[in-house]
Amino acid sequence: MLRYVALAALMLLGIAPLAAQTQSSRSAAELMDAVMWAREPIGGPFALIDHTGKPRTAADFQGKLLLVYFGFTYCPDVCPTDLQNIGLALDKLGAAGNAVQPLFITVDPERDTAAHLADYVPMFHPRLIGLTGDATAIQKAADAYRVYYTKVPLKDGDYTVDHSAFIYVMGREGQYLGFLPPGTTPERIAEALRPKLAAE
Ligand code: NI
Repeated sequence: MLRYVALAALMLLGIAPLAAQTQSSRSAAELMDAVMWAREPIGGPFALIDHTGKPRTAADFQGKLLLVYFGFTYCPDVCPTDLQNIGLALDKLGAAGNAVQPLFITVDPERDTAAHLADYVPMFHPRLIGLTGDATAIQKAADAYRVYYTKVPLKDGDYTVDHSAFIYVMGREGQYLGFLPPGTTPERIAEALRPKLAAE
């Protein structure tokens, strides 16, 4: 009997990773390395749902410069600060900023439904698009951008999500142009975008 219990436990362990969890499939160190030292390509196709409930793919945004940010709405400080800075940077760019599309992709699809994102994204910029999807779709998008995220249980039964917080800048053809670190000021974001807007 014990043998069967052990076997069942092993099978569970083997099967569990097949279901997408709220976490990246690779370690924080590996992913940080991939981004910081440009060791791996960044970006790629995704298939998600926007905050109005409309299906969206990377192809929908061709022709725009993209600011891609992964985070979650319950994030206490880093996400709201960066999203606010992105919104202020777009305002600083004036009309030229219309060629920039900011995207907020949740790493907490369980709580960040389209309806929940609809309440959140307009606080930062009227053109900010929130994207969510099932755990597998989110993991696929996050993996493509080498984003680290993992669900961390809190004492009260609640949870938070640890995540890397780079602002990815993508060109009009979807090509990766570079990243801005968390905490980049609106001035600096606008400065980084101006030459890209002028060049293309
Ligand atoms: Ni955050």
